[in-house]
Amino acid sequence: MTRTPRHVLITGGAGGVGRALADAFRALGDAVTLTDLPGERLDALGADLGVTTIGLDLTDAAAIPGALETAISAHGPVDVLVNNAGILHLHGTVLELPVADFEATIRVNILGTFAMTQAVARRMTAAGAGGAIVNVSSIGGRQPTPGMGAYESSKAAVDALTRWAAIELGPAGIRVNAVAPGPVDTPMMREGMPEGSPMREGWLSRIPLHQFADPRQVAAAAVFLASPDAAHITGVSLPVDGGQLLV
Ligand SMILES: NC(=O)c1ccc[n+]([C@@H]2O[C@H](COP(=O)([O-])OP(=O)(O)OC[C@H]3O[C@@H](n4cnc5c(N)ncnc54)[C@H](O)[C@@H]3O)[C@@H](O)[C@H]2O)c1
Repeated sequence: MTRTPRHVLITGGAGGVGRALADAFRALGDAVTLTDLPGERLDALGADLGVTTIGLDLTDAAAIPGALETAISAHGPVDVLVNNAGILHLHGTVLELPVADFEATIRVNILGTFAMTQAVARRMTAAGAGGAIVNVSSIGGRQPTPGMGAYESSKAAVDALTRWAAIELGPAGIRVNAVAPGPVDTPMMREGMPEGSPMREGWLSRIPLHQFADPRQVAAAAVFLASPDAAHITGVSLPVDGGQLLV
C-alpha cells in the first residue's frame, strides 16, 4: 500500500536522539525538517542528510512562528511535530543547584515545548486536517534520581503538557503523546559514561533489561505514536526504559 509522505518537524534535530528520529522518519519516505540551535553542527547535519535545517533557539518564542513559516514553505503544512530538544546537563542537589540552572532547563524543556506546540497546533487547527505531536519526555519525570530533580521536574511538566494538549486538541483530530526514555546510548552518553565505568554499571543495575535505550528504539516508539497505527492513542507518555520504572 502506498502512503502519502508527511512533513515531520523535529526540534533538537542535531542531537543524538534527534538524528535517530530524522533517520527513522526519512526511512518511511517522510519529508523532514530539523531545527536546533544555529551553528555548524546543524549545518553539517543538514548537508550530510540532505534535509532542510532551520537554526532556532527555542527560548526565543518570538522567533518560532517565522521558523515554522520557513519549514512550511519548504515542505508544506506540518503533519507531525516531534518536540525533542532538551537541556539535560544542568544537574545539582536541592541544596546546591543554582536557580538560574533550573530556569534555563525550564525555558527549553517546558516553555520551548509549549511554544512550539502552540505555534504548530494553531496551524493544524486552522487547516482542519488533524495531526500528531510527539514530545520527548523522560522516565525521570516519574522516578527520582538524586541530583537530577530540576531536569526531572521539567519532564514531569512535559508529561502534564502532553495530557493538557491531548485533551484540548483531540476534538480537532490532533493526537499528542510522549516517549519517555530511560538512559539513551547516545555518543554524548558514551563519552560521559564509558563502557565498564562505575557510573554506567550503576545505571545499568537499575534496568531490568540491563541495557541503555538505543536511540533507534526511542525513534521507533515516536514513529509508532505519530502513525495511523496509534490513531486511538492520545495523552500517553510511553516509557522506553528497559523496565526501569518497574523497580
Ligand atoms: N540521552 C538520554 O539519556 C535521554 C534520556 C531520556 C530523555 N532524553 C531526552 O531526549 C531528548 C534528546 O536528547 P539527546 O540525548 O539527543 O541530547 P542532545 O543534547 O544530544 O540533544 C538535545 C538537542 O537539543 C538542542 N537544544 C538545547 N537547547 C536548545 C534551544 N534553546 N533551542 C533549540 N535547541 C536546543 C541541543 O542543541 C541538542 O542538539 C531530550 O529532550 C532529552 O531530555 C534523553
